[in-house]
Amino acid sequence: MTATAISPLAGKHVVLGICGGIAAYKSVSLLRLLVKAGAEVQVVITPAGKEFITPVTLSALSQKPVVSEFFTANTGEWHSHVDLGLWADCMVIAPATASTIGKMAHGVADNMLVTTYLSAKSQVFVAPAMDLDMMAHPSTTANLALLRSYGNIIIEPDTGYLASGLTGRGRMEEPENIVKVLESWFAGRNDLAGRRVLITAGPTYEKIDPVRFIGNYSSGKMGYALAAECAARGAQVTLVSGPVALEAPAGVDIVKVESARQMLQACSEAFPAADIAIMCAAVADYAPAETADRKIKREHSEVPVIHLVKNPDIAATLGAAKKPGQILAGFALETDHEADNAAEKLSRKNLDLIVLNSLRDAGAGFGTDTNKVSIIDRAGRTDYPLKPKSEVAADIIDNIVSRL
Ligand code: C5P
Repeated sequence: MTATAISPLAGKHVVLGICGGIAAYKSVSLLRLLVKAGAEVQVVITPAGKEFITPVTLSALSQKPVVSEFFTANTGEWHSHVDLGLWADCMVIAPATASTIGKMAHGVADNMLVTTYLSAKSQVFVAPAMDLDMMAHPSTTANLALLRSYGNIIIEPDTGYLASGLTGRGRMEEPENIVKVLESWFAGRNDLAGRRVLITAGPTYEKIDPVRFIGNYSSGKMGYALAAECAARGAQVTLVSGPVALEAPAGVDIVKVESARQMLQACSEAFPAADIAIMCAAVADYAPAETADRKIKREHSEVPVIHLVKNPDIAATLGAAKKPGQILAGFALETDHEADNAAEKLSRKNLDLIVLNSLRDAGAGFGTDTNKVSIIDRAGRTDYPLKPKSEVAADIIDNIVSRL
């Protein structure tokens, strides 16, 4: 007899939020799978949700009365959204309609589901489902970006046949896959298990002579925080690091380099096997054409001239070699025209996303322990608040994981 593995959802309190969309019929299967995995599920449904699926079915499967209104009409019993928010080990809203996503993004708490969401102290997962044009509308993109910036995990919709008869992006993720996302989150956030991640960090030093170099102020803190986060989430991490004064994070395979050319060499070796590559290093754009093998002496008669040559662009080199399924992320540190410059780099270097930090933001950038970033991809931009670099790393990795 084979033993069945116990699901990480066993014994967990899950609030299942259901909105008024045709995909609500899939919520019945989702509820069934959650209960089967051993979770205790409390369904909260919006008034429109009840038009699509009857609470009787949901309460029979969850073995709990379904909550929808603030009060039960005949008894006057009040349902506490605060208690529910505290009870939950996680909340999953599936399907999440454009309307509820908009309300969640802006705190419009006019029903039990949004009120519970605002009271929830636990992780919230949002599985959007809507017609392709609603999904593609800039307001939906902006509202989802806001939800991500609050720390919610968006379970991205699929592309396929929609209830409207049209084909496009907007199908709610299949219940089996939603359960998998929750399980891996509860399994110690092991969501990068089996994945290989390549990260570059720190500055490069471009030698002028044995004692001098061209370098920059990069401390490596952001790249090292990313490496630690990926390792903690089960990834096999190769950290290609320029010269920094930091300890290698536990469980990370570190390759120490000095120049951009050495960094390129190490990255070219690791990239073919990588699922994800994050280019966080501040690579010098130019290197001396020649390195003097002896210390250049101070000349009183003439000022020495150092001829420079262009360094290889590591991110762009990997971008050109990228295979389908590989995710390549870059960083952009800008002082002006931030968003335009970042978008230009995204396309020129064939990146999937670019993390933008502006030197204009206090607390962001070189040497600090905090950072304030925006993530830009082809679908739009998500702004995150100022946070410790370890938390910024978790936001960036959440964003990348949602693309896997
Ligand atoms: O063009 P820029 O230097 O602003 O691009 C920044 C992004 O490109 C970062 O992700 C950085 O690590 C990467 N980069 C690189 N090799 C270079 C220059 C930048 O990998 N030579």
